[in-house]
Amino acid sequence: MTTITIPFNRPAIVGRELDYMADAMRGGQTSGDGRYTKLCHAFFETTLGVKKALLTTSCTHALEMSALLLDFQSGDEVIVPSFTFVSTVNAFVLRGAQPVFADVRPDTLNLDETKLEALITPRTKAIVVVHYAGVACEMDTIMRIADAHGIPVVEDNAHGLFGTYKGRQLGTFGALATQSFHETKNFTCGEGGALLINDPALIDRAEIIREKGTNRSRFFRGMVDKYTWVDVGSSYLPSDVLAAYLWGQLEQREAIQTHRGRVWAMYDECLASWAAANRVTMPNVPDGCEQPFHMYYLLMPSLEARTAFIAHMKEQGILSVFHYLPLHLSDMGKSMGGQVGDCPVTEDVSDRLVRLPLYNNLSETDQTRVIETALMFRA
Ligand SMILES: Cc1ncc(COP(=O)(O)O)c(C=O)c1O
Repeated sequence: MTTITIPFNRPAIVGRELDYMADAMRGGQTSGDGRYTKLCHAFFETTLGVKKALLTTSCTHALEMSALLLDFQSGDEVIVPSFTFVSTVNAFVLRGAQPVFADVRPDTLNLDETKLEALITPRTKAIVVVHYAGVACEMDTIMRIADAHGIPVVEDNAHGLFGTYKGRQLGTFGALATQSFHETKNFTCGEGGALLINDPALIDRAEIIREKGTNRSRFFRGMVDKYTWVDVGSSYLPSDVLAAYLWGQLEQREAIQTHRGRVWAMYDECLASWAAANRVTMPNVPDGCEQPFHMYYLLMPSLEARTAFIAHMKEQGILSVFHYLPLHLSDMGKSMGGQVGDCPVTEDVSDRLVRLPLYNNLSETDQTRVIETALMFRA
């Protein structure tokens, strides 16, 4: 078996993460909402311009909070792309929602806004969009349709922190947006996430849901003299030690994004002629979208070509990986009515997509080896 010498992802210490984590541990508060959590909250509120940011234990949990906040009940429908991670839909299904799977656009792999309106019914309770690879969905159209029907939008922005659409930060369009700080993301604390709240009417309840259904946050702000159980909720706030890890990464925002931008551009430049000669499609970033360089993917001409490409890279010790399988054709998706042919673009691209190594300390030497190995492949 070949040893993998260039993984698909590798978490890196990029700044003062270890100092800050030690500081949090020495400082007397390792539970949630300490000094570092507050620094992260303020950072997101200022740099993104959201009304409220709340760190969570994962993006999955921020999505679960969204479903609770929007009062999902059994039988309510949620429109989600089929081409996404399980949590995008599972968070709503946990509350009894029926998923309505939308297909994606072949050029960006984002929810196809031209097909959205046809999926809306009187039971549609929310539209969840995913900015795949951090490249924005067509938000003008999506928000116009959602607003016309009075349906809230949730942006699953797991990939898209610091991406923009027509100059506006992703995560600021929907009533709610969710972030991931899982190990594979541009900024990480191992496992973590955030809920971004743009609809001020949802802020108080979000704090309660995140704090086990209690009004503890109001108590700490001196707004009530004792705290008590006031609503449903769970424990969605991360330890301040994890917030300290995340803060160490966020402080290095410029360095991280500059490095990832360089890696992304080098793949794009060096693979272009090879891709054209081998019927490989490269990522498309439409005008008006600035992407945060979360991912570099290729669309191979066929499933066979992708399987052969992954094996070819692996023989040289390089891990390249595929991504989402169509959710409507998963066991759960089928049990909820999904059928072959429901989302043809998703069914096609999920067979052909492959992602190349991209991480915060990927060296130029290693990246050159990835590129040279890819260039030897013939589709
Ligand atoms: C689009 C999307 N949403 C949600 C998640 C879940 O993120 P987390 O692992 O932070 O729960 C992922 C995971 O990568 C994802 O790709």
